[in-house]
Amino acid sequence: MKWLILTFISLAILVAGLCFWYFGDRSSEYARKAPLSSSPLVNRVRPEEWAELVTSGTLRGESWVLLPTEQPDTDFQSTVRAENRGFLTAETCGECHQQNHQTFVHTAHARTSMLPDRESILGSFQEGHNTLVTGNPNLTFRMTARDDGFYQSVRLRDPGLQTEFTQDFRFDLVLGSGNHGQSYLWWEKDRLYQMHISYLTESNSWVNSPGPYTDGTVDYSRPVPSRCLDCHATWIGFDSKEVNRFDRSTLIPGVTCVRCHGSGHEHVAWHRKFPAATEAHRIVNPKTLSIERQNEICAQCHSSGEPIGNAFTYRPGEPLRSWLELDLKTNSESNADPHSANQLARLMQSRCYTAGPGLSCIACHDPHQDQRGQIAEFSQRCQDCHKSDVCPDSRKYGELAKERCVDCHMPTRRDQQVSIDTDKGSVQALLRDHQIGIWPDSAEQVRRELLKTNSPSDPAANPAKGEVP
Ligand code: HEC
Ligand code: HEC
Ligand code: HEC
Ligand code: HEC
Ligand code: HEC
Ligand code: HEC
Ligand code: HEC
Repeated sequence: MKWLILTFISLAILVAGLCFWYFGDRSSEYARKAPLSSSPLVNRVRPEEWAELVTSGTLRGESWVLLPTEQPDTDFQSTVRAENRGFLTAETCGECHQQNHQTFVHTAHARTSMLPDRESILGSFQEGHNTLVTGNPNLTFRMTARDDGFYQSVRLRDPGLQTEFTQDFRFDLVLGSGNHGQSYLWWEKDRLYQMHISYLTESNSWVNSPGPYTDGTVDYSRPVPSRCLDCHATWIGFDSKEVNRFDRSTLIPGVTCVRCHGSGHEHVAWHRKFPAATEAHRIVNPKTLSIERQNEICAQCHSSGEPIGNAFTYRPGEPLRSWLELDLKTNSESNADPHSANQLARLMQSRCYTAGPGLSCIACHDPHQDQRGQIAEFSQRCQDCHKSDVCPDSRKYGELAKERCVDCHMPTRRDQQVSIDTDKGSVQALLRDHQIGIWPDSAEQVRRELLKTNSPSDPAANPAKGEVP
């Protein structure tokens, strides 16, 4: 009897399968919605396996979806709290340092991680501008703003199976002030993952995220390790035993004061208790450190190397080498891992660094001001050490050249490490080479621009101060 029932059931399944194969295959509508997990295109990966899977090339093919595997819903709370370690917010410091705080909030550091809202997300949610076209005709990404948040909605047809898959992922954290672009992160419980779609400022459009994101595929499974937030946030509690597990409620977004000035709690407690005190108590002023130690504060994030210590444990003023194995030999014009972040090594290879007592990042950069694009201002910093007339081009082009020192001697370059795959080919970010030197091609380019600006046939573009050679 049992045997009969089983045969009957098997036959029924076989017939149903055949019917589907026969009729299903001929229908032109993608009407049948299947759960994502039932498609052979969908791979669920564990965070610790992600890198291997993606770099091994296992996933070549037309289209696929990568999603994180389900994780157990256990309780997790970071045992170390930010306050205990002196990681205070910029607002706390702003209580007494209003001026520094007011200008600081507009800098890229302050804005390098933000909670999502209409202002912080730079990409458009407007109809007509809110989709990403990929080279894969079966795949669309649509960005939508709703009452309960902002979403990336994925729609992938599987022509083989005649099914259509859709899933929404919520923007939970914005990464990047938007100088070059922004990437976005999403939470699944207390695990943090990167989203497939990023925003590229140069083209003012949605793009596939840089790095291992191939056009025509879908990947929402890339784990975000603590090191990523170590460079892009002030603090977050995390589980050091797992790749991407955080204590969500403890996030202090933005790279703020304490990352350059060190633990602030004793300083704040003291000055609150003695409001008349004018001498600073227990806080690091980077200016009083050696040039090497000064630069190491920046090199926590702007260098290339292997971290030895845990995220959020380096303290300004300490030697960096016990925390990060700096790679100063990297001579790549394009910056090294993870992206950008090789300014220190390049700067240290300049004659300006090696032939004198060294050169500090803060000789040119004021961390409390948004100085983006102020090329004349930066060129003035060169003239703190060099008389402009030592340079033949400067002598020839006069005042105009004095505002462009950095364009000839620190040219911008397309960074091969920050590459974005689009349906029309790849795009690279433009970054400033910090090896100050003589770069004939860039000089030639700038000379042409200077001649054009100086051309008498275009009086509007000919400022009176320019000297025609
Ligand atoms: C309750 C007031 C108060 C708060 C809050 C406060 N400071 Fe200060 N801070 C002072 C005073 C007073 C001085 C000494 C006068 C001065 O240099 O402005 C000072 C000096 C400094 C200096 C210069 C140190 C030196 O040696 O020249 C730095 C840097 C600094 N504070 C950073 C911070 C940071 C970072 C925070 C937040 C973690 C912070 N302060 C919060 C009152 C405060
Ligand atoms: C904790 C990590 C961290 C530290 C420490 C740090 N930076 Fe940054 N810095 C970043 C990140 C991340 C960005 C990218 C910000 C963005 O645009 O999202 C950045 C951006 C910048 C920029 C570009 C700003 C712009 O708008 O053009 C400059 C310049 C800079 N940093 C200089 C410095 C200097 C100088 C120091 C040391 C005094 C320093 N940084 C310390 C992480 C850091
Ligand atoms: C070692 C430090 C470091 C790590 C780790 C790091 N970044 Fe960055 N990131 C930087 C710096 C520095 C910049 C600024 C680039 C520049 O202007 O030189 C930057 C720039 C960016 C930008 C562009 C910001 C802008 O305004 O244009 C994005 C987006 C970004 N990072 C995302 C990420 C993500 C996502 C991760 C982790 C998966 C990550 N970064 C890991 C240091 C880091
Ligand atoms: C990216 C690193 C960085 C960040 C972030 C940063 N600072 Fe500074 N700060 C410096 C450096 C470097 C100096 C020394 C610069 C100098 O004096 O030329 C300095 C100097 C200071 C001084 C003493 C000189 C002065 O300007 O009065 C104070 C006070 C100060 N910072 C407060 C703050 C506060 C408050 C914040 C946050 C709102 C902050 N800093 C954020 C790097 C930083
Ligand atoms: C802290 C002082 C200092 C600053 C700031 C500085 N330099 Fe230099 N620079 C030097 C010294 C020292 C040398 C080596 C001696 C020399 O050749 O005069 C040098 C050498 C050079 C050279 C010759 C490089 C070579 O490879 O032969 C150039 C070009 C140059 N600097 C341009 C600049 C420009 C452009 C800036 C601004 C972006 C700048 N420097 C900022 C100190 C400085
Ligand atoms: C001699 C002057 C000078 C020194 C010293 C210097 N920078 Fe810069 N830096 C510049 C200029 C000029 C730019 C381009 C600014 C712009 O386009 O807005 C720049 C841009 C940057 C950027 C933005 C990314 C980009 O490529 O546009 C970062 C990050 C940065 N510097 C970090 C550093 C760090 C870290 C140090 C120390 C290791 C340092 N800089 C030392 C002149 C300098
Ligand atoms: C149009 C491009 C251009 C501009 C603008 C420019 N330089 Fe130069 N500079 C050059 C070139 C090219 C050389 C190499 C000349 C040679 O060796 O024949 C040079 C050489 C130098 C040297 C090395 C001189 C020596 O004899 O060792 C210094 C220092 C220097 N420049 C500084 C500056 C400073 C400071 C400014 C801004 C006031 C500036 N340059 C503006 C292109 C430029």
